[in-house]
Amino acid sequence: MFPTHRPRRLRSGATMRRLVRETVLTVNDLIYPLFAVPGASIAQPVKSMPGVYQLSVDKIVEEAKAVYDLGIPAIILFGIPETKDLEATGAWHDCGIVQKAAAAVKQAVPGLIVIADTCLCEYTRHGHCGYLDVNDLSGRVLNDPTLALLQKTAVSQAQAGVDIIAPSGMMDGFVQAIRAGLDDAGFAETPILSYAAKYASAYYGPFRDAADSAPQFGDRRTYQMDPGNAREALKEVELDIAEGADMLMVKPALAYMDIIWQVKQATRLPVAAYNVSGEYSMVKAAALNGWIDEKQVVIETLTSFKRAGADLILTYHAKEAAQWLAQAG
Ligand code: PBG
Ligand code: ZN
Repeated sequence: MFPTHRPRRLRSGATMRRLVRETVLTVNDLIYPLFAVPGASIAQPVKSMPGVYQLSVDKIVEEAKAVYDLGIPAIILFGIPETKDLEATGAWHDCGIVQKAAAAVKQAVPGLIVIADTCLCEYTRHGHCGYLDVNDLSGRVLNDPTLALLQKTAVSQAQAGVDIIAPSGMMDGFVQAIRAGLDDAGFAETPILSYAAKYASAYYGPFRDAADSAPQFGDRRTYQMDPGNAREALKEVELDIAEGADMLMVKPALAYMDIIWQVKQATRLPVAAYNVSGEYSMVKAAALNGWIDEKQVVIETLTSFKRAGADLILTYHAKEAAQWLAQAG
């Protein structure tokens, strides 16, 4: 008995496989995260993320040029402020670190899209993503007072030249509040990339070193989503669309491919996947031990995010991936 169907016919060689490939990763899909710190000539390695650095604004500009030259369309900026307080002043101050970095990058590399992560956790003394009353012993993040601070943050980021506002704090109503704030301030044309389905994840561990943003007490489970929930992700997505989001993010990516897929089916907006710090560090650690072929693993993983429905991929692998993709020609 011979097989009636022979799918292997279309896997016979590299060119044949190229011809029938359904999903193709390109440099256009990538967004590279950068961490801005005060000072000059600083490139401080992040221990838990080999190849990732906290950079002063001059170094951010150099890096932005390199990123643009590789063909990567966008960066996303995170900031580590000089000082932290209860009102997250460093987040919304016109001389804030992200504002400075964004202005410098837009001046030096105007063609590069600058996205700003719009959240308070790097800027609050307690490390939570919102405002909280320090006299309230429950330590609960207060939703509505946080919205006003996020509005101020988004407007000052837009004023500094940021092209896309990306709120990540999972506060109720944050897209609507930011949209209204931007519109009132004359930034009706500035798009919002909402971290719509963001889970309370242990995969953010290395990022919290990089951004110095670990909560000083408690955790983020009263605002970020429970990993067991999928329908709730679709509810969050619906709300953010209704509130005026232009693009939607699912985060983390690797353990949440089903969510990327479901969100993609539920919307016509572009969907972004955040290949987070813990996912990066696991690959780097294995690669540095010689246990995996890093290039193959990274390209396979990023391609799979796209196959699952991601139109955009935020990844610390972006520069290396761009180089590998260019080699493949
Ligand atoms: C801030 C923020 C976090 C990440 C992006 N924006 C951390 C967190 O929510 O604790 C995680 C990124 C990563 O792990 O790479 N709200
Ligand atoms: Zn936050």
